[in-house]
Amino acid sequence: SKKASGLMQAFALSPRHLHTAQARRHSAPEKNRRSYATHVAKPNGKKTLVLLGTGWGSTTILKTLDTSNFNVVVVSPRNYFLFTPLLPSCTVGTTENRSIMEPIRHIVGRHNKDIRFYEAQCTDIDPEAKQLTLQTPSDSTARISYDYLVVGVGGTYNTFGTPGVQEHALFLKEMQDASKIRRRLKDTIEKAGFEGTTEEERKRLLHMVVVGGGPTGVEFAGELHDLITEDLSKWVPGLAKQVKITLVEALPHVLPSFDPKLVKYTEHTLRKNGIQLMTGTTVKQVGPTSLVVRDTKSGSEAEIPYGNIVWAAGIQAREFAHTLRSKVPIVQNNARGLIIDDHLRVRGARDIWALGDCTVSKNAPLAQVASQQGKWLARAFNSMAKERQIGDAYASIAAKAPFVYSSRGSLAYIGGERAIAEIPAFSTSITAGGPLASLFWKSYCLWELFSVRSSMSVATDWAKRALFGRHISVD
Ligand code: NAI
Repeated sequence: SKKASGLMQAFALSPRHLHTAQARRHSAPEKNRRSYATHVAKPNGKKTLVLLGTGWGSTTILKTLDTSNFNVVVVSPRNYFLFTPLLPSCTVGTTENRSIMEPIRHIVGRHNKDIRFYEAQCTDIDPEAKQLTLQTPSDSTARISYDYLVVGVGGTYNTFGTPGVQEHALFLKEMQDASKIRRRLKDTIEKAGFEGTTEEERKRLLHMVVVGGGPTGVEFAGELHDLITEDLSKWVPGLAKQVKITLVEALPHVLPSFDPKLVKYTEHTLRKNGIQLMTGTTVKQVGPTSLVVRDTKSGSEAEIPYGNIVWAAGIQAREFAHTLRSKVPIVQNNARGLIIDDHLRVRGARDIWALGDCTVSKNAPLAQVASQQGKWLARAFNSMAKERQIGDAYASIAAKAPFVYSSRGSLAYIGGERAIAEIPAFSTSITAGGPLASLFWKSYCLWELFSVRSSMSVATDWAKRALFGRHISVD
């Protein structure tokens, strides 16, 4: 037992930590027992700060945090940061997938080689014991302890329980989704070109439906239009003429969060580009080859055949946010995600902060919100370390000025080398739509991309596209 207590001291593990781990090991289900490792903090007296996720929030923390003050551990099933504004471009080959993926090892290595990264999904939490359960890609389970935890697990698509969506629709949230769309587009177009395909079947196959008139749906519809008019029209002109894009939106107009002038401009541009707008129309059901829509005013229903359907009807917090909510059920009573206070603290839990799309606050689920929250939290940790108040981070961070989001504007690409931009200026905002706004959007993307390597890759992709056309082949 002397040896055991020595080990506990060396690894800064309390007997309670070990006890919990052992008890769990004995009660773990058979499938979870394939491998069982426990990460322990380094014996350097520093607190262990665990970041969950490699999205906008967590990655910005990594960029801003003085990591020498903590044992920093990053956990995410995704070993790269994804530049989401260009994800719709990857569905049609305007940009290549790798160009907008920044390996997390590059980001970590640039700052502090001591940061640990675990490619794993966090599946459970014990806030009392301050322990996390991780599931690795090889399906083994591990436990890690934390002193401070930052949850930035992000959001995923929301089907709102609409029948058939999960089974038949494509989504646009992760890189795998973009590749899947690209593959399906290619397959459907090839299929429509087969000799024996009937006219009716060809019409169905070439009908592309986008559900959701938010920025994701509008940007994807714009990219799809570009693929058809700029590339398909050269490769298969007969088929390109028959492709039809329909954008279905439940509300009376698309892009409800944008300035009404820009909404009008967007709707006009989409229609001019041949995209059929079905606003005030809700998708009620999706089958393998057709969907059912309902007119929100008259209540009348119609069945529409389709070849591909992309569901961009909104997002919800990821599963882990709900797992954490279930540990503090009375306080965390909002099914949309984790309720946080102005200091990004998860209400009802101790030493846990959360940011980005997995949270519920007065701020919209935007990349720039998550990014600013990450910066604010990292700075709070840095100044706390300077003030040597690292022992009580919760109280120390709460004493600082609260997080306040400052909008830097909104941009969206709408197709045909046109974009819309809404930039705050003093007490008003400047709005612009058209080719100039598109140039502005492109400059923004190049500027905001994570590294010079990514910016160069994207700029090269754009140049290749202009010179040789898009590359929609997938392996
Ligand atoms: P969203 O929530 O902004 O838009 C989804 C749209 O789908 C809504 O307008 C909703 O009325 C509609 N919808 C929902 N269910 C429907 C149904 N059954 N039938 C027809 N329409 C239905 O979702 P999105 O576009 O994925 O964006 C998520 C968040 O990310 C938002 O906060 C958005 O502002 C932000 N974002 C911003 C971007 C930008 O500023 N360029 C780009 C991408 C996302």
